[in-house]
Amino acid sequence: MKVLVTYITRTGNTKKVAEAIYDEIDEQKEMKPLDEVNSLDGYDLTFIGFPINQLYPPEKAQKFLNNQTSGRDSALFMTHGVPEGTGLILDWISTAKEMASGANIIDIFNCQGKVARKVLDILQNSDDPEMRAFANMCVLAKEQPDRIRLQKAREFARSIVSQKKGYIAP
Ligand SMILES: Cc1cc2nc3c(=O)[nH]c(=O)nc-3n(C[C@H](O)[C@H](O)[C@H](O)COP(=O)(O)O)c2cc1C
Repeated sequence: MKVLVTYITRTGNTKKVAEAIYDEIDEQKEMKPLDEVNSLDGYDLTFIGFPINQLYPPEKAQKFLNNQTSGRDSALFMTHGVPEGTGLILDWISTAKEMASGANIIDIFNCQGKVARKVLDILQNSDDPEMRAFANMCVLAKEQPDRIRLQKAREFARSIVSQKKGYIAP
């Protein structure tokens, strides 16, 4: 089995999760930034990671999920500034699933990632109370993804590979 781990990252958090996933895979494997992936031909399983920026996956991730994942066994992972369990995350998971609607999505992992100082400053100084409230949710992310999150990402990787091995296409 050949596994690809691919990701988009702006400030490095999603890359850390990608590395944890990649490390845990004992199969034949490759890791590449999403920009360098033209096709999923030749891969049996792909982990696709991205951050949430302004309430959506970055446009490049959206396009990739829409155009490249049809018929592919895939697992998604995303990082975001809001704490795990925040309701909005369910919307982001649904959006990603819709974008990759032709893929076989085995599962989706998500965890908090620290928010760039510049972005926090802008949000905290905003006139909009919603933006300030959002900043307060993100402040707690300053150590993320921490050792515990990265360990969860490793467990996710193991679970996906074993599900793939046991997965029999209908
Ligand atoms: C421009 C910008 C917009 C962001 N928008 C959101 C957002 O809408 N929701 C959220 O939870 N986090 C948001 N974040 C926080 C990032 O999702 C989080 O820091 C993520 O871990 C960044 O991943 P990366 O380091 O791989 O780029 C934003 C960060 C940036 C820089």
